[in-house]
Amino acid sequence: MLQLFFSPQMARAYRDAARIFRAKGRLAVFPKTRQSKVPRQGEIEYLKSIGPDRARHALGKPFSDAACGAYLTEVGAFISLLPPPPRRLLDLGCGTGWTSVFFARMGYDVTGIDLAPDMIAAAEVNKRQHGLDNLSFLVGDFEDLNYENEFDCVTIYDALHHSENELSVLQGAYRALKSGGCCVTSEPGRGHVKNPITKNAVAEHNVTERDMPPATIVAAGRAAGFASFKVYPRPVDIRRDRLRLLKLLIESIVAPNRNGYVVLTK
Ligand SMILES: C[S@@+](CC[C@H](N)C(=O)[O-])C[C@H]1O[C@@H](n2cnc3c(N)ncnc32)[C@H](O)[C@@H]1O
Repeated sequence: MLQLFFSPQMARAYRDAARIFRAKGRLAVFPKTRQSKVPRQGEIEYLKSIGPDRARHALGKPFSDAACGAYLTEVGAFISLLPPPPRRLLDLGCGTGWTSVFFARMGYDVTGIDLAPDMIAAAEVNKRQHGLDNLSFLVGDFEDLNYENEFDCVTIYDALHHSENELSVLQGAYRALKSGGCCVTSEPGRGHVKNPITKNAVAEHNVTERDMPPATIVAAGRAAGFASFKVYPRPVDIRRDRLRLLKLLIESIVAPNRNGYVVLTK
């Protein structure tokens, strides 16, 4: 597999990720202890199964994407909801680590976690490329976290909808946070599973895809023990036609629970 995975940095990152995975650390035990109801192999093998071009795209996010402007707008709005650095931040389902790198470059002390060793290997490459020492990555299951009162902020960017059970993720996030800390999410809202691209990802790569609107996140957050909840609208894409912009604006006012960012405070 290709240039990306056979580069010296990638080979080194793979060795590191494999070592982390085998180590007797807290994250190494997660996949072994958890009784999963559905196969998680699709999530674990996703990066390999999408092929080299898309793997390179995933590693280069957001700059590798034709919609880079929209990515930056979205991540910019998301970042504006975080408490200011320096703080300890846990980035769950970090994938190739592009959000973790953004946060670390802003001055947070970041831990990124992902279930897929390949994703973490790519994230290690990302980290090295930026020469960051306030950033660490671990292979682990965000549905089985065992941190206690360690972080000021938990971020979940485009990953909670890949969980089998959002409540276990938010319970772990709640435990991981210090008192007064917050968990900030950005997820595709209602209608995600009906999207043809999503259906194709499930059929081709056997990944878990669910609708994860703010209403679901707030309900799980409440059950996990969070004290307060806020839903924020997504920024509008200024390229869209006026009618669509108006629809998005009205929707964000009258039905904010269909879509948007959620901030849960402990
Ligand atoms: C759509 S990707 C998003 C990745 C990254 N946050 C981004 O924005 O590029 C979803 C990520 O969630 C990860 N994931 C799925 N299930 C997980 C689990 N149980 N624990 C940790 N990570 C998980 C996948 O491996 C994948 O990297």
